[in-house]
Amino acid sequence: MTNIYNIAGLDLPHAAPDNRLRRILTAALPNHSDNSPQQQSDYWDAKFFNLHQVQIFQQASIAEQSAILGLTNRSLLEESYFIEKVGVGYMAKMVLLAETVEERMLYAMFSADEATHLNQITNFLSESEPTNSNDPFLSLLAEVVESADKTVLLFVLQVVLEGWGLSHYRRLAKECRHPALAEVFASFLHAEARHHSTGTTLFNQTPLSADSQATILDVLAKFLFMVQVGPQNVLSAIEQIKGHLTRSQKIQILEQLDTETHSGTRLQLLRSLMQPTSAKTILQILDAQGAFAPLPPHQCVY
Ligand SMILES: [Fe+2]
Ligand SMILES: [Fe+2]
Repeated sequence: MTNIYNIAGLDLPHAAPDNRLRRILTAALPNHSDNSPQQQSDYWDAKFFNLHQVQIFQQASIAEQSAILGLTNRSLLEESYFIEKVGVGYMAKMVLLAETVEERMLYAMFSADEATHLNQITNFLSESEPTNSNDPFLSLLAEVVESADKTVLLFVLQVVLEGWGLSHYRRLAKECRHPALAEVFASFLHAEARHHSTGTTLFNQTPLSADSQATILDVLAKFLFMVQVGPQNVLSAIEQIKGHLTRSQKIQILEQLDTETHSGTRLQLLRSLMQPTSAKTILQILDAQGAFAPLPPHQCVY
């Protein structure tokens, strides 16, 4: 098996439904519930995605609107599924890299947190297991997790991404229309805050080498660019249901989605996560590169 070299485990398969391991796992999970919640496709409504402002969406039939929402909902849930799946492997790697007993214990508990989160999200995905569709964000995430540089891991994954995940999950919880799923995301918040603050604490205790700094800058520039170009997944959901969109239609949709404002808010949040750390130079360089500036719609479509 090639999984020895695959910390992220994006393609790690699930056990067969009748595998005895599943029963042992269910009993071992903290909340024992194996009653699958009812799955639906509109956990988050059109307003959550700003789709209510988009003309082509407003003019679509009810069936098309619900198909578009089905896709945007599915991609949000799948993204969380993969982030938690990567989290289990990442935290286990950090157990091995720990330099004190306490650090090792913390990471072992964090790996269990992510396993619990993964289980809870899986309950809300319909029968079909998500397949890794070479999403650029997930590919970048999987690549970083393989890094042998602990400073890079701490900064990119725990300071920035876990910090971002914390406010992302808070919003998912607040705006979710399905109370059981809202509760699931709300229940993640304490754990995610601990993951983030552990990362910040350990990062600030570690000297930053020129090599680590260069890798961090390279990865963050790529990650921030994905935020700068706005909600490409919403655009692609519309295109999958309404058919090919011309460049000018895409620009118009992004304008109606108010992309620049929303990306701008997300970029400022990401920037604020880096501020309380000792990585002042990283922040200065990213600022100078304009990495926190959202792109106008015409620069978001190719
Ligand atoms: Fe998590
Ligand atoms: Fe986490």
